[in-house]
Amino acid sequence: MTEGACYQFVADPSARVGEDVLEDTRRAAAARWSAVRSRRAEVARRPDAPGLYLALAPMDGITDAVYRELMTGLFGGASGISVCVSEFVRVTREPVPAAVLLREIPELERGGHTRAGVPVFVQLLGGDAEPLAETARVAAALGAPGIDLNFGCPAKTVNNHDGGATLLKAPQRIAAIVGRVRDAVPAEIPVTAKVRIGWDSGAGLEEIARAAASGGAAWLTVHARTRAQLYQPPVHWHELARARAAIPIPVVANGDLRQPGDLDACAAQSCCEAFMIGRAAMARPELFAEGRGLRGRLELAELLAIVTEYHDALRAAGLGEGRAVARVKQWLRLAAELDGRAAPHFAAIKAEVEWATIRARLAVS
Ligand SMILES: Cc1cc2nc3c(=O)[nH]c(=O)nc-3n(C[C@H](O)[C@H](O)[C@H](O)COP(=O)(O)O)c2cc1C
Repeated sequence: MTEGACYQFVADPSARVGEDVLEDTRRAAAARWSAVRSRRAEVARRPDAPGLYLALAPMDGITDAVYRELMTGLFGGASGISVCVSEFVRVTREPVPAAVLLREIPELERGGHTRAGVPVFVQLLGGDAEPLAETARVAAALGAPGIDLNFGCPAKTVNNHDGGATLLKAPQRIAAIVGRVRDAVPAEIPVTAKVRIGWDSGAGLEEIARAAASGGAAWLTVHARTRAQLYQPPVHWHELARARAAIPIPVVANGDLRQPGDLDACAAQSCCEAFMIGRAAMARPELFAEGRGLRGRLELAELLAIVTEYHDALRAAGLGEGRAVARVKQWLRLAAELDGRAAPHFAAIKAEVEWATIRARLAVS
């Protein structure tokens, strides 16, 4: 398949799910969500297992092994996180060697789990099925508990090299890649896919979802935005209902889940009962446990203490002071975007370079 063929993709209106099917899906979804909600304290490790599935979203440049360890270790290991997905590992012409996978996902040395026992799926990104399949085979042999395929990254540098969201324009290529990767790893290891609702509209979402399912994906995570939207509002949770109705595998809803009540709102609109949370975890690391009804909101001082702990963990892992400080600022910037309480603290440190000064400014009571 040539890249040119991608640009000829026109969504087939007859592939859309009808209103009658959608109505049935909504009815069934309400019952499913009510059952899942009543067992929400139980951590489901798969979206089709009993309990509530709340995955920590992959975020390149943020959710590295140090962050995953910190987040899953919160509250004595009762973080509420079902699964982490690694930052994407880019696969171009050659398979990625084991040494690189072990460097990016050091949890593979411990059976692919964080110390708190949370599985870490290895996310691969690329447009070439063969090296993706071989890399997935190596990751599985190293102990990856699951392989996730990234078809949602909107970065121009990635999309211009036939990776990430570009594949949304060629659902048949998504089917082929998922199928090839599925064949390459043992049957008990789930292969999953992460997509957006489409390139510049959601009109082809059913075709994208069917492609992933026909390739053998165990479940499909959908960021409820188009690639054209990047990270801009609005988020289209309601569009996910069409994917849910179109395929027999679970659909995990993602995008702008920021507070516990959003799970109910998103479930009602998307017909999904499994969720992935990314940026809100920076403002509200407790959201996974909070969404399970296990704890309340953290005080600002507790959040700032977690950010300080993050700095120390980065330094202990060998990161230079400048880069550790940059990571702290990135965390607080994202937190401040969602939580006004963090904004003055970000403002107070954003131009500061000395860690001792920053630490002092974060130590509020
Ligand atoms: C800085 C940043 C980096 C990201 N990196 C990845 C990535 O490596 N793989 C991926 O599938 N999605 C990536 N995403 C997308 C997120 O996983 C998620 O789909 C998106 O942020 C929407 O969810 P949220 O509103 O809960 O953050 C990234 C998002 C951000 C903000």
